[in-house]
Amino acid sequence: MRKAVNRKFRKLSREQRIAALADAGYLSDESAAQWLQAEQQLTLDSAERMIENVIGLFALPEGVALNFPLNGNMYQVPMVVEEPSVVAALSFSALLAEKHGGFKASADAGLIKGQIQLTGMHDCRAAMDKILAHKEQLLSEANSLMPAMLKRGGGARNLTCKRFTGENSGVDMLVCYISIDTCDAMGANQVNSVCEALAPRLQALVGGEPLLKILSNLADEALARAQLRLPASALQSKDMSGEALRDRIVIANDLALADPYRACTHNKGIMNGIDAVALATGNDWRSVEAAAHAYAARDGQYRALTQWRCDDDGQLHGSIELPIKVGTVGASLLSNPGVKANQELLGLNSASELAALMAAVGLAQNFAALRALASSGIQQGHMRLHARSVALSADCPDALFDALVARLVNEPEIKVWRAKEIIAELQADA
Ligand code: MEV
Repeated sequence: MRKAVNRKFRKLSREQRIAALADAGYLSDESAAQWLQAEQQLTLDSAERMIENVIGLFALPEGVALNFPLNGNMYQVPMVVEEPSVVAALSFSALLAEKHGGFKASADAGLIKGQIQLTGMHDCRAAMDKILAHKEQLLSEANSLMPAMLKRGGGARNLTCKRFTGENSGVDMLVCYISIDTCDAMGANQVNSVCEALAPRLQALVGGEPLLKILSNLADEALARAQLRLPASALQSKDMSGEALRDRIVIANDLALADPYRACTHNKGIMNGIDAVALATGNDWRSVEAAAHAYAARDGQYRALTQWRCDDDGQLHGSIELPIKVGTVGASLLSNPGVKANQELLGLNSASELAALMAAVGLAQNFAALRALASSGIQQGHMRLHARSVALSADCPDALFDALVARLVNEPEIKVWRAKEIIAELQADA
């Protein structure tokens, strides 16, 4: 197992934090120097090549959730997020989980489906039968379109069809789904290209007119799963027994399974963690989001992505399953030096390792939220972090920082003007 980073990390300066990550072996000396000089930043030149009409760069904070225990390994998790408490919540869950065996997670090989919509056929059923009769031939034609992917061990794996009648158009349509293993790439461009190239071949086979040719972000053949088990004693607090909190977490989760209003907020909390890692690793977080929510509604009702239960032995058992199709290779990922730096920090070997980690991060984030919501509420922790950021904005001297934060959290208004007043009082008392 890789070395843990000292828990005093939070209290260190930014420079000391970078040094701590390097000392524990998570950053090379060269990368540590790059972090110190902020040379892992995206340049304007690269930005110009990434999107259109660039006028500048837009920054977000990046924090590291410490010592995340997963599958017997330890990760320092880079998170790009503007919301206070998200990084702290993950570090908290990691600390608790580490004492009880950590998280377990896995991810499928990571197939992604492309869709080709065919319209204007006389007999959709006959067309479907014909396409399915030519399945092997179509798959090998698809594979011939992606020799590089084939060399890396990927390629087209399956072809299925479905018929629909348009709700507004009344048009009968046939949709072909081609499942492609894109290995460590997210693979959107590859799948779109295959769909576009395959469409005329399908047309030659069954007639009609191909309309949409595009990947589906509902990556239900790239599922990632994570689990956590905690004894009730781990949940004990000064205000509540571990058993009581365990049961309250289960009941809180039950509401998110039953009620879409709660499920939406519950899943938003899960995505706080998953999106922050998707951003840090240069992945398309909108596709991860879209897939997660579509999957949460797969049985017709939008539900929680997690399950929390009390096991027969009284342990709290949490699990999550959701589609996570992400990449660790690809030009768009590596054009951003920050992505490269974060991949090094994570020490990833594959995209499925990243997907498994992201699932566990989602479960951990959800655990932290439910634990707070089912006990003291989340505002207490949020207010402490808010008070810290107000204290920073008020230019509080280091020696008074902790005292100021302690006072601010009990104030009716946690504002910079009030922080400045308290600093003056503390200085007068000193
Ligand atoms: C806030 O960003 C996320 C939470 O609302 C999630 C939840 O309610 O489970 C705390």
